Amino acid sequence: MNSFTKSDFPVFQANSGLVYLDSSATQQKPLAVLERVERYYREENANPLRGLYELGVKATEAYENAREAVRKFIGAKSVREIVFTRNATESLNLIAYSWGRTNIGEGDEVLVAISEHHSDLLPWQTLCKEKGAELKYLECDKSGRYTEKALRDALSERTKLFCIAQISNVFGRLNPIKRFAEICRENGTLIVCDAAQSAPHIAVDVQKLGVDFLAFSGHKMLAPMGIGVLYGREELLESMPPFLYGGEMIDTVTRCGASFAELPHKFEAGTVNAGGAVGLHAAIDYISELGLDEIERREEKLTALAFGEMKKIPHVNIIGADDPQEHHGILTFTVDGVHPHDIAAIFDSENIAVRAGHHCAQPLFHFLEIPSAARMSLAFYNDEEDIMRFIAVLKTLRRRMGYDG
Ligand code: ALA
Repeated sequence: MNSFTKSDFPVFQANSGLVYLDSSATQQKPLAVLERVERYYREENANPLRGLYELGVKATEAYENAREAVRKFIGAKSVREIVFTRNATESLNLIAYSWGRTNIGEGDEVLVAISEHHSDLLPWQTLCKEKGAELKYLECDKSGRYTEKALRDALSERTKLFCIAQISNVFGRLNPIKRFAEICRENGTLIVCDAAQSAPHIAVDVQKLGVDFLAFSGHKMLAPMGIGVLYGREELLESMPPFLYGGEMIDTVTRCGASFAELPHKFEAGTVNAGGAVGLHAAIDYISELGLDEIERREEKLTALAFGEMKKIPHVNIIGADDPQEHHGILTFTVDGVHPHDIAAIFDSENIAVRAGHHCAQPLFHFLEIPSAARMSLAFYNDEEDIMRFIAVLKTLRRRMGYDG
């Protein structure tokens, strides 16, 4: 029987006393996922979509069953809309290279939320430079809140695309994607949603959200690294040229031309990451068994505890909303007079893992006028003891750096 606690995660047995608070960077893997990946390679491994022998069929089935599990998990209409990639970064690049290079021209505009991770900024920045299009930013307030009015004001008849994360990896704030998608639709603008930070924590339903494209990574939701997902509305994916060219993405090839495979295989050139896909399937099963409601409930409780305790400590400044409900397990912070790298090093000396730096969101840090910050990010497998150990060390940081209090 699954206990849905730390004991499901071998990493905590291998690293005794570890307090892992960097789940926004990557989540730890439960035994169920590790065992499923191992079983795939022990018992079912062949090159999927190619082998006509029994083992090849097994591998194909395992891979395509994973696609169906993803379809169901995000409420897509068809498996034709689910493309396996390496990660959210590759999914976003795929949109920029394939849809972007076909549909964006000189004078067009791409609107990007200022808090976007570099992976949802650089593909558009590069595309705009190449095509003579204009890259515009949607700005939020200091709490990370984007308003409908700001979005309406920023859109023009030339805005082809709006790109925004559902949950920012710095603020932890949940953006109103459904509403933003409606506003974009009225304007004839497509919306790309980066769900890398939301898919592990809340229910994501592409049809309810009304997004055109959505991207996420397996490794941020219990699955192995190297497997990610691109969701695209079928008619959009259908109209797009392939991104990468190679094996198993074709229909026919002649000396001077080629026609391409049906969706989604047109976008999956070369040998696929079947082990990653079955691991993602196992991760989805694990999450579904525990329930996203329960995950949210546990994470909200831990976030509120951490937020409340952090607020009591002088010189600790939390970036974003002054409300734990708006943080979804992500608390990015500074400590007056202490460099974030020193913060992370001191935590590390106490066996507590937090991230420090610009969190791959440099334009946001310029906008906030903060050079960098530390971040603790939690998951349902953390517990109150983890939070209180983090708080105990946080209280000592300034003294350890030579301040009186
Ligand atoms: N995008 C990941 C993070 O925010 C790596 O840490």
